[in-house]
Amino acid sequence: MIGLSCFKGSAVLAVIFICKGLECLAENQIKNNDLFCFVLTYSYLCSRKTSKMEKMEQSPIYILGIESSCDDTSAAVLRDGILLSNVTASQAVHESYGGVVPELASRAHQQNVVPVVHEAIKRAGIQKEQLSAVAFTRGPGLMGSLLVGVNFAKGFARSLGIPLIDVNHLQGHVMAHFIKTPDGNEVAPPFPFLCLLVSGGNSQIVKVSAYNDMEVLGQTIDDAAGEAIDKCSKVMGLGYPGGPIIDRLARQGNPKAYQFSEPHIPGLDYSFSGLKTSFLYSLQKWVKDDPDFVEHHKEDLAASLEWTIVDILMKKLRLAVKQTGIKHVAVAGGVSANNGLRNAFHDHAKRFGWTVYIPKFSYTTDNAAMIGIVGYYKFLDKEFCPIDAPAFSKVTFK
Ligand code: KG4
Repeated sequence: MIGLSCFKGSAVLAVIFICKGLECLAENQIKNNDLFCFVLTYSYLCSRKTSKMEKMEQSPIYILGIESSCDDTSAAVLRDGILLSNVTASQAVHESYGGVVPELASRAHQQNVVPVVHEAIKRAGIQKEQLSAVAFTRGPGLMGSLLVGVNFAKGFARSLGIPLIDVNHLQGHVMAHFIKTPDGNEVAPPFPFLCLLVSGGNSQIVKVSAYNDMEVLGQTIDDAAGEAIDKCSKVMGLGYPGGPIIDRLARQGNPKAYQFSEPHIPGLDYSFSGLKTSFLYSLQKWVKDDPDFVEHHKEDLAASLEWTIVDILMKKLRLAVKQTGIKHVAVAGGVSANNGLRNAFHDHAKRFGWTVYIPKFSYTTDNAAMIGIVGYYKFLDKEFCPIDAPAFSKVTFK
């Protein structure tokens, strides 16, 4: 009896026994003792499976989403796809370095993950035992940062005996358009739609045929749009992250004041490294003649840089619409917070009859709500991941 309860309490032992049972079955050498182990283990796993099935069929479905791919530690709770809480701890520690320092990012995630998850569950007004599954960002991103969220998610899900769901960070950005809130005013794009995914690490045009069917039609061959903005901001000495600073200054500047070179890349791919170099060389020349040039012209510089980047992005997007005939067009990722880009989307809706989908500001930069919504759809499809699923630093859509 004692042996039996110890055995029941140990999932590890169970796995060993069932492997042994299967091995015996394969070799046709079942002895009485092996058979005993096998049957017991099988019934143990079936009983666990039944309790998991009960969780899966439960209503409502509560998903905890965890995001830690770069420098934001975020946790969110969704009930039946409706967002109840979305808590994010950003990391100011990188500001003085002008960019994310991976080692500092993973240490900050370690400090933040427990309080952030705790707060998300508290704000959702539920108990952790009510959660149906834990969804986590598996990649792409910084490996050290990902490992914190991945391992926390694994331990948390295992301790609660609930399924784990792995989420592609990029898929999360696109699916941010499907997050519902209790007031329910959101309009999600119909499938298929195009999504311009622009962040610090990616610039892609994605054809979205279903939540789990995404095809990259074009992408940057070098730097991402956000990366170019951040680097140009840095050479102007404006600080990090450059996106919001450039956005703010650009509102007061003349977008046609300066011209920077635009890439000539065939098809739907992007390139931003040439623009970055053109910006740097022009700036060096101007500063040589006038050391206070940036201070005197930062609004015009920001507006011209933003205008050029938006122009590059929209040209290829127009081509994608022309090639696919799809006129439902969304934008996602950190750079989708940019006001110049958002205005360009509204302008294209008017000029070309597109129906455009622009996310709420809170869903543009990294957040766990977008991970939770993918987790919800995967939960409905019973798409779970094993406990030993590794994080991945580089990947795009399958
Ligand atoms: O999606 P995100 O939070 O992280 C990645 O997955 O990369 O995107 C961060 C990027 C940064 O490059 C940041 O400068 C940019 O988004 N960004 C903006 C704005 N807000 C954030 N770029 C332009 N205008 C903004 N308002």
